[in-house]
Formats: sequence, structure tokens, C-alpha cells
Amino acid sequence: MDAKRAKTGVVRATTTAPVNIAVIKYWGKRDTKLLLPINSSLSGTLDQEQLHARTTVAASSSFEADEIWLNGKQEDISNQRLQNVLGAVRALAAKKDPEHPLKDAHIKIASVNNFPTAAGLASSAAGYACLVAALAELFGVQDQELTAIARVGSGSACRSLMGGFVRWEKGTRDDGADSLASQVVPESHWPDMQVLILVVNAGKKGVSSTSGMQSTVKTSALINHRAEVVVPQRMKDIEKAIQDRDFQTFGRITMQDSNQFHATCLDTYPPIFYMNDVSRQIVQILTQYNDAAGEIRAAYTYDAGPNCVIYCLKQHVQEILSLVCHYFPSSESEFVRGRSTTASDYSSTVDA
Ligand code: ADP
Ligand code: DP6
Ligand code: CO
Repeated sequence: MDAKRAKTGVVRATTTAPVNIAVIKYWGKRDTKLLLPINSSLSGTLDQEQLHARTTVAASSSFEADEIWLNGKQEDISNQRLQNVLGAVRALAAKKDPEHPLKDAHIKIASVNNFPTAAGLASSAAGYACLVAALAELFGVQDQELTAIARVGSGSACRSLMGGFVRWEKGTRDDGADSLASQVVPESHWPDMQVLILVVNAGKKGVSSTSGMQSTVKTSALINHRAEVVVPQRMKDIEKAIQDRDFQTFGRITMQDSNQFHATCLDTYPPIFYMNDVSRQIVQILTQYNDAAGEIRAAYTYDAGPNCVIYCLKQHVQEILSLVCHYFPSSESEFVRGRSTTASDYSSTVDA
């Protein structure tokens, strides 16, 4: 993580950042420039040994321009989100030291995700959190403001700078100063909590989260009810369930919130379909499994994509994996086992 100065006068830093998967979904902005949300949200941060973004940033006054490569391909640095982040880190550095050694330097960025990009597995969250962490290291600025800087890259990214369960308060101010992320509990609070990921389709989604939520805010008649009435109550209830390690309440709210988020996508005009037939089949299988057990053992949630994320307790992991392998036999060899934390300990590919 150290910013290193090479003999060439180039300073560089490399860092990794995890994805986070929301159990109360952020969907809709009240300010599209500052990326201020219409509702608060809450997520679990996954183990970065499984899924992560890795970003190297290098600075030198001999570079002619800022540049970025994502997964080996050069992207457009004039992208507003990248400009937001670069501008905010430079401003923070200048505030701390008007004569900052990197004040006239250009920056080269290279980032790689070790999991599908733009497929509904929170690549924008890991990616922008990672970029902010790497730039903060490079410029030597460690600050409370970093979650706000990650937010202006991608809203969900502000929740990836902390482990455990993290809330993002929507805030009420127009300048976004109170729209920040904070930790609800550290990972150690609920060591039995596990996350399984079933990759239904690793391809890039047809509608990005940014444009999908914009279209929902514009056209859905349900979204305001969700943001104003449903989510505030769910935030309170799920935080209590997490504090109490009450998996029944946690799991029920998680599934209901995923269902409602996808209902607002269907209520968007024209409608947005992130889940596909396999996603829905998994919902059905897990519902039957929970019903047969007489309790919730597997809580599914889907982001803006077809891929399934299951929150469950350690003691049910094997049972759930066997169930998935029974229905999708070709996925058996694909399971990846990792460390036991509040984390993505297994992932799998499910053939569509
Ligand atoms: P996802 O569901 O994967 O978060 P989004 O539609 O929210 O999908 O965002 C995908 C976009 O996020 C990508 O097209 C890219 O612009 C940006 N992104 C993804 N990974 C990174 C990364 N490692 N560094 C910088 N930007 C990234
Ligand atoms: C369904 O944070 O990717 O994953 O702020 O426009 O970059 P932008 O959108 P993004 O949206 C995430 C939506 C979600 C739910 C969530 O992570 O809370
Ligand atoms: Co995203």
C-alpha cells in the first residue's frame, strides 16, 4: 500500500478493495452530479480474497496527461465520475498542503477486477473505492472525507471502504456533506455470517445501474413510496436484526428488499429486467428450501444484474451448496472455497 518513489521520479501506489452487496438497496438519486441518493442503504462488505478490484496509480510531472486503463483496456479519462474523484483528491491534498509535491503531476491509473465487470456484482463499488484508496495513499491524505469522495465516483462505492456491515445515510443537505457511509458492526460481530455468489451470467448488463435508476426515478410510481416509507423502517429493523444476530428477521428483510427493488425496475417505463429465468428459478428453489426447513436458511438478494447472492449462516453452507449442485450439476466443479468471514467464501457459476 505504500506510495513508492522510483528513481525515475514516478511515485506510485497499489491497493485492493472489496465489493459490497446491499441488503437494503440504493436505487435512485436526488442529485445526479453529487450522487446523492433518495434513500439510505445498508450492505455487507465481502472478503477481498475472493472478489476485489486492484488499482495502481502512478504520478509524475513528466506525464503529459491523466490516463486510465480498466481491465487492460484504455478508457476515457474525461468520464465525469473519474474527474469527480481525481478533482476531489487533488483538492483535499491542496487543502492540507498548498505546495503539495504532486500538485502539478499527471496521474496514470490501471485497474483490474478479478470478477465480472458491470454484471451486477458491484464492480463500480469495488472499483471506485479502490481508486480513492490508491489515490489517498499516493497523495498521503487519509481522511474522514474519503467515503464522500468514493461516493462521487459511484454511490455504492462509499460503502466499500469499511468492513462488516455498513450503512450509507442518505443525508438531507444539498451539498451532500451528511451523505456518508459508516460501519454498523465490524466483521467480527457476526462470524457465522457467510455469503455465497451464484454467477448466472458474467456478461455486461444491458442497462447500467446509473441509467437504470435515473429512469426509475423519472417514471416509476412506486419508487417514492419505497424511498419515503418502506426503506426508513427497514433500515431500523435490519440494523436491529444485525445487532441481535437475528438471522430470521435479517433474511426476511433482505429478500423482501431485493424483491421490491426489482419490482420498481418492472414499474419503470420502459421496464428494466435485471433478473432472468435462472435468477427466478433460484428464488423458487431457495423459497422451497426455506419452507421445508420451517425457517429462513438462505436469504437471496440480486443487485442490478441476474447474479444471485445468498446470505446464510455457516452451519447451512454445505446444505445450500448441495442444493444448488443438485439443480445445477454442471456448477459443482466451479465452487471456490475461501476463508470464513463475513465474506464471499464461495462462488459458483450456474449455467443459464
Ligand atoms: P456493477 O453492477 O458491476 O457495479 P455498474 O453499472 O454500477 O455495474 O458500473 C459499472 C462501471 O463501473 C464500469 O462500466 C466502469 O465504468 C466502472 N468500474 C468498474 N470497475 C471499475 C474499476 N476497477 N475501476 C474504475 N471503474 C470501474
Ligand atoms: C442495485 O452505485 O452502481 O447495486 O451511483 O450510479 O454508480 P451509481 O450506481 P451504483 O448502484 C448500485 C445499485 C445496487 C444497489 C446497491 O448497491 O445499494
Ligand atoms: Co455499480
